[in-house]
Amino acid sequence: DIPVITIDGPTASGKGTLAAQAAAALGWHQLDSGLLYRATALAALRQGVAAEDADGLAAVARGLKLRFDGERVLLRHAATPPGQDGEDVADALRQEQVGSLASRISAHGAVRAALNQLQLDFRRLPGLVADGRDMGTVIFPDAGLKVFLTASPAMRAERRYQQLIGKGISASLDALRADLEARDERDRNRAVAPLKPAADAVLLDNSTLGIEESVQQVLSWWAG
Ligand code: CDP
Repeated sequence: DIPVITIDGPTASGKGTLAAQAAAALGWHQLDSGLLYRATALAALRQGVAAEDADGLAAVARGLKLRFDGERVLLRHAATPPGQDGEDVADALRQEQVGSLASRISAHGAVRAALNQLQLDFRRLPGLVADGRDMGTVIFPDAGLKVFLTASPAMRAERRYQQLIGKGISASLDALRADLEARDERDRNRAVAPLKPAADAVLLDNSTLGIEESVQQVLSWWAG
């Protein structure tokens, strides 16, 4: 069996950084499942598919043409000339509007179902660290270690703010906090795959932990 570690949790809890560093330390693959929802949201925007159109969105998700090339994320869509690389959407995907739209479209069961197999395909030797909202509850229920990562809303807003400022994107701390609380609310209360810890998940609150300490915690849980 190909080993999997899942890291689920609310927005800006540091899942992505933790997953990337744990995967690097183990020499494993990484799945950033939120990125697939974000790419679906962006592709839907480009193709003019509405956030309420579950079937249209599921078709966008099924037809998603994404390629990872180092730091670049190449998305092919209707306007991509044949035989050419897709558009590099790495920066566009990180935008807050795209995250918000991703949160809205991910509430449709048809969209989630359309992305199932794509996510399972990331499970390759020697192992996978997968982060998202339902990695431990829905996609990889047999994962050997399930982590549920939390941090206070104030801390998460602050981290997201620093991330954006660091990239030269202007942001308002209050607006970010309001947006992330609204997003968590929606993710927790949706009917399909709501955000919650798996019954067998271990909880990690990293409000007061540095990234290095969080990585060490995960690795020591894995080493058991
Ligand atoms: O970086 P951030 O935590 O803000 O967002 P993300 O992990 O990139 O995910 C964007 C949105 O996709 C989330 O707000 C979720 O609603 C949705 N998502 C999901 O429903 N299931 C996943 N496994 C991953 C993301």
